[in-house]
Amino acid sequence: MIFIIVKTIHLFAVFIYGGFLITDNLFLNKIKRSFNEEEHTKIRESFMMYVRKVVPPSLLVAVATGLYLISQVFGEIGEDGLTTFQTLLSIKAFLGIWLGIRGFNQVYLKIQPLVFKSHILPFAFVITIIFLSQFMHI
Ligand code: HEM
Repeated sequence: MIFIIVKTIHLFAVFIYGGFLITDNLFLNKIKRSFNEEEHTKIRESFMMYVRKVVPPSLLVAVATGLYLISQVFGEIGEDGLTTFQTLLSIKAFLGIWLGIRGFNQVYLKIQPLVFKSHILPFAFVITIIFLSQFMHI
């Protein structure tokens, strides 16, 4: 029962985080086409004011719940090494933890990433994670 509740929280948290990345990468960047640089910055900032209150905590919830879930489902490593599930889940967890550390550094410690500064990398990671979270069960 606890597992199902935590997994549902995990899904809601990744839904909010991933939803923002989809909105930002697919739609918000189009604002530039209709407004000049100064107007674009203003519009984006008015949106980001609310994003900063909701999205970073959601990412932390996604990582925290993910850590609980992995502790419950990873299982023993057999003599033949990692199963497909364990391998794909490990890659998924690695990418998720990477995003968590990156987001925490950026938002709470004000340490900006050195490379891949835009939201395209997190977007690509989230898409990859979603595929992994489905194919790991095969
Ligand atoms: C922002 C990053 C993350 C995204 C977008 C994400 C996405 C997802 C999705 C979509 C599922 C649902 C799978 C399904 O039931 O169909 C899931 C489940 C899961 N996630 Fe994440 N996740 C993230 C971070 C993490 C992290 C950091 C960990 C571990 C440290 C993790 C561990 C798990 C586990 C163990 C499950 C359950 C697997 C199962 O059903 O047996 N996730 N995740």
